[in-house]
Amino acid sequence: MKNLELNIENVFPFIPKETLDGYDELTNYHIRHLHQRTGKGANFLGWLDLPSSITSESLGELEDLSSELSKKIEIMVVVGIGGSYLGAKSVIDALSHSFGMCINGNRKSPRVIFAGQNISEDYLGELVDFLDDKSYAVTVISKSGTTTEPAIAFRILRNHLETKYGQEEAGRRIIAITSANRGALRKLSDERGYRSFVIPDDVGGRYSLLTPVGLLPIAQAGFDIRQLVAGARSMEEMTKPGTPFWENPSAIYAAARNALYRQSPKTEILASYHPKLLYLAEWWKQLYGESEGKEKKGIFPASVNFTADLHSMGQYIQEGQRNLFETVISIMDPERNVVIPEEDDDGDGLNYIAGKRIDYVNKMAELGTMLAHVDGGVPNILISMPRLNEFYLGQLMYFFEKACAVSGYLMNVNPFDQPGVEAYKNNMFALLRKPGFEEETNLIYKRLET
Ligand code: PA5
Repeated sequence: MKNLELNIENVFPFIPKETLDGYDELTNYHIRHLHQRTGKGANFLGWLDLPSSITSESLGELEDLSSELSKKIEIMVVVGIGGSYLGAKSVIDALSHSFGMCINGNRKSPRVIFAGQNISEDYLGELVDFLDDKSYAVTVISKSGTTTEPAIAFRILRNHLETKYGQEEAGRRIIAITSANRGALRKLSDERGYRSFVIPDDVGGRYSLLTPVGLLPIAQAGFDIRQLVAGARSMEEMTKPGTPFWENPSAIYAAARNALYRQSPKTEILASYHPKLLYLAEWWKQLYGESEGKEKKGIFPASVNFTADLHSMGQYIQEGQRNLFETVISIMDPERNVVIPEEDDDGDGLNYIAGKRIDYVNKMAELGTMLAHVDGGVPNILISMPRLNEFYLGQLMYFFEKACAVSGYLMNVNPFDQPGVEAYKNNMFALLRKPGFEEETNLIYKRLET
């Protein structure tokens, strides 16, 4: 079976291979510390061996609940923000039909949609309109159980469900995923008897894909969580401590990014040529941005979707400020086979590619862009996924998680905390006059008056 491949040939024009050889001992040292739980943030390393430690029974429990609910609902609303939704959203989008159609006209699973990731009144108002005549259920996800955005969305949906179905049936249509014993959501869930799953204390939000946070919504959408876990497990094996540097893709990626960052580029652009990967890039941005962006350090994670963005961001990448490098996710084989038809009059001049598959043209765009960007001074890292399926998404996402942890250690930051996220919350609570924030409220309103 093929595996995900990492190619850094187009980093070498910018960073000599010998520099990367120098990362061999260092990355192995950090990987050892990760696994021995002796590095920074050691209390948040539960994700490291999730792929190999998840039991078949716990996967079965998620599958059984998903199939039970799928018999009575059309829509599952997953409520969560940040790490409590991006992993599931990115996998579901990557695997779903681009136009929401069911395969062979036979939808066996509900459509999974998301809420609680914004505080837009229009979004929530329209969501309630949309749900009025649908049979639906809610999966609410919050590790802390106190995050404002999902709490507001959940209150609106809980009220809507209770009005629509009555309290008892509403309770059967709510599933909570939260901490074992703290936070408002745990309390509410225990009081009202919702079915619930636990987010382990030692797994942070952005590393929680392989807990019920990611796995339950993915199973609810009808995708194969066992294959996702199997892919991650194979990457856990490929990146385990003691793996030689040049055979460990996570170590190489972390080292290449770090060497580039030290030389000059401070922005990494994650690019792909597949619109289904738009949310994978959002997940990746959270993973790297929240893990590394602290203590005035960090590579700024940006993303583009080509070829669309070659017609918007392409100019900047080719000729703008030279502080970028690019990581491209390439999918080797598409799932479909669409050929460009031949036309007798060749009015649009496309007969030179008639008979070729669309993917061939996409790949030539990818190759041509990579060569142009490297010529323009943009180092290129290439990640090749054999196919866009559950197994390779599992490999890819665990690969990124492991590399992110090593990369954070190489920058000497704690990749598992996010102290900066509190700043906006404190201001918002002060402005909203939340009880307990009286002093901050006085200060912030005085500041606004001046
Ligand atoms: O990665 C993280 O820790 C964050 O993005 C959280 O997942 C996000 O803030 C949501 O937190 P919670 O699950 O506690 O509602």
